[in-house]
Amino acid sequence: MHGVNLGTLLRTCDAVGACLAVPPFRWVDEALARGNTLRQPTCVHRVSDPIRWLAGERAAGSHVLGVELADEAIRLGDLPAARRRTVAVLGHEATGIPPDAVDLLDSCVEIPMVGTGTSLNVAVAGSLVLYRLAGLL
Ligand SMILES: C[S@@+](CC[C@H](N)C(=O)[O-])C[C@H]1O[C@@H](n2cnc3c(N)ncnc32)[C@H](O)[C@@H]1O
Repeated sequence: MHGVNLGTLLRTCDAVGACLAVPPFRWVDEALARGNTLRQPTCVHRVSDPIRWLAGERAAGSHVLGVELADEAIRLGDLPAARRRTVAVLGHEATGIPPDAVDLLDSCVEIPMVGTGTSLNVAVAGSLVLYRLAGLL
């Protein structure tokens, strides 16, 4: 929804040594370019069918971690650094993670909030989790 979020996430991915997987929508390239100030090439996977790709990652042994406020979620402070290939799944800014992707999650992490807002910006949430998974925080 908000053009700078993908580019912001791409910069975080680069900083922690992760790749960014994006859906095949026509606005994606412009969104990546708008928020990304990096000069060097970055690792972006363009995924034609995100749900199928996620299922394939899981079948191949990746840990699929949802980033979402959820009853069964662990708190960010308890999230260990990733010890194997891990896919962090972020939700849509308005509707969150879609149900068919929720079905593919192995676990979920939430970032505690004490303010008046109901959620964080998706690029902020993703960046915090990526730093944690990378063991850099
Ligand atoms: C703006 S939020 C979506 C809010 C949406 N109204 C909902 O009900 O899910 C966009 C995405 O950012 C991530 N996010 C935002 N705040 C979070 C938090 N406190 N803990 C974990 N993930 C969060 C989730 O991936 C979420 O789907």
